[in-house]
Amino acid sequence: MPIAYITRRERFNAAHRLYNKELTDEENLTIYGKCSHPNWHGHNFDLFVTIKGEIDSKTGFVTNLNNISKLIKELVIEKLDHRNINLDVDFMRGKIASTENLAIAIWGELKNPIETIGVGLHCVKIQETENNWVEYFGD
Ligand code: NI
Repeated sequence: MPIAYITRRERFNAAHRLYNKELTDEENLTIYGKCSHPNWHGHNFDLFVTIKGEIDSKTGFVTNLNNISKLIKELVIEKLDHRNINLDVDFMRGKIASTENLAIAIWGELKNPIETIGVGLHCVKIQETENNWVEYFGD
């Protein structure tokens, strides 16, 4: 059976602040610039979840993307949307609220539930701005 990659996009908006609590305010400002502003800032994030699997000859699908959408919404979007990533999101607790760390944490939330459906998780991509995005492939 041929293998294909299918992608679902979900959107959320959320606030965060980039800082490392081990560092001084001055060091944080040097590393993160205005992203380290103590009173937070927000983004409209696009989350792309790519699934890998064999195409089912009966349906012509790898899997029904509605089921993937439901999983992403339940496990990830409901926890992130209109929230503060530093303060409100259980799977980001204790982590620097970078988009890299967010992609890895979302991978951790989705991997087993997606495999339970019988397909593989290939990539979690988060687009933070028009010009900046992160892709994580599980390495
Ligand atoms: Ni930011």
